Amino acid sequence: MSDFNPKIVAFVCNWCTYAGADLTGTSRMKYSPQVSIIRFPCTGRIDFMLLLKAFASGADGIIVSGCHPNDCHYSSGNFHARRRWIVFRSLLDFLGIDVRRVRFSWVSAAEGAKWAQLVNETAEQIRLLGPFKRYHQLRGLGVE
Ligand code: FES
Repeated sequence: MSDFNPKIVAFVCNWCTYAGADLTGTSRMKYSPQVSIIRFPCTGRIDFMLLLKAFASGADGIIVSGCHPNDCHYSSGNFHARRRWIVFRSLLDFLGIDVRRVRFSWVSAAEGAKWAQLVNETAEQIRLLGPFKRYHQLRGLGVE
């Protein structure tokens, strides 16, 4: 499994984590290149069914990251996202999907190094778990 390069999809908010990821690049920090970033105005706008769609479309792992608590630019969007995450974990359990495939985090615009570390750790975790193979199950449930 050593040549397995996991596909990771990152759902991030525009104001903190996206800016933090941008800082990682402008600071020329290196990190795992297997991540595709999808930018949202706020983590509160992320429909967690999109995470299942990402898995159904071939993702091996997922990151959800936004502003730290009390730093959300829309005041409480990240708290809504955190509540959804708690419920979503139960859904993953119910579907038999290892919750370690999804990382929920906070990364600010000033934390480029933290973004790099988050991506690297996630890539390593997914490498250990191996490819996600249950996408047929999700498609069978109508998740596409
Ligand atoms: Fe970043 Fe709401 S604007 S989490």
